[in-house]
Amino acid sequence: MDMKEKLQQIAESARQSIEKAQSPEKLNDARLMFLGKKGELTQILKSMKDVSPEDRPKVGQLVNDARSHIEKMLEESRKKLEAAALEEKMKREVIDVTLPAKKAKLGHRHPNTIALEEVERIFVGMGYEVVEGPEVEYADYNFTKLNIPEDHPARDEQDTFFINDSILLRSQTSPVQARVMEQGKLPIRMIAPGRVFRSDEVDATHSPSFHQIEGLVIDKNITFADLKGTLQEFAKELFGPETKTKFRPHHFPFTEPSAEVDVSCFKCGGKGCRFCKGSGWIEILGCGTVHPNVLRMCGIDPEEYTGFAFGVGLERIALLKYEIDDMRLLYENDIRFLKQF
Ligand code: DAH
Repeated sequence: MDMKEKLQQIAESARQSIEKAQSPEKLNDARLMFLGKKGELTQILKSMKDVSPEDRPKVGQLVNDARSHIEKMLEESRKKLEAAALEEKMKREVIDVTLPAKKAKLGHRHPNTIALEEVERIFVGMGYEVVEGPEVEYADYNFTKLNIPEDHPARDEQDTFFINDSILLRSQTSPVQARVMEQGKLPIRMIAPGRVFRSDEVDATHSPSFHQIEGLVIDKNITFADLKGTLQEFAKELFGPETKTKFRPHHFPFTEPSAEVDVSCFKCGGKGCRFCKGSGWIEILGCGTVHPNVLRMCGIDPEEYTGFAFGVGLERIALLKYEIDDMRLLYENDIRFLKQF
């Protein structure tokens, strides 16, 4: 058999092997079988030394032609396999553009946050600044500077968590009053929202951690009348223009005189209903004119300056506004509950 025939045979069996190879691995096996170091074509090249010198160029040409022919077949087959694989992959990963898009789940503001933003909006509208104080506070600021000396029974009423003898988790936002007054920038018109702590058992109306919003105004000639006007305005903005306010005498160590404020029930308009427990009124906050002792301890001359203060429970406002009957719901963070507001 002459060389030409032999090469044709090799090319033909290469074609068959390549056709049979249905994966890149099999195709590579075919390549090695014909073009590899021990491949059939390589064997022929090795036997060139037995070819007579005058025939060598011709035979060499034939071998090269066979080689490039086989390479071409391999390359074509490789392309075909790749295209088929891609096709297969695209079929598997097909995207149905008519399907509804996945919506990113947006968070939701907590009822406390909504209520706080409402209160802030009202007071900022009246020219108040919003400030913050530390949750871990000196007993000095939480009590002493607010006219609650050591061993005063009012300390027991606001039993809280002590870090050591002189540092505690604040039981009220009132210490922010002392901190702002001490800075000595007058006049003052501020509200201070924040978390407070008490050693209370959890029930429908109590939690060891809740929120208050403190208010403080200090200027020349501030009177109880300013306090009444301000809080009346606040109550109307928060609960509706028909809302009436009632100031009941009370005692707080840091204000004198002091009062608790009730608003007319916004459910029944004051006639008495289940919501206001038949009284027509709902208690919302404590307030008063700042005690001269407090002013003095915070470096302000009570002969020159006077002021008023108030403290609102944020949860109380949120519970009232959204008619929630159990405070614990505010802390459970059940998305089905929170989504309603
Ligand atoms: N800090 C008081 C409390 O937690 C609330 C309060 C009452 C704040 C009267 C005041 C105020 O600023 O004047 O019970």
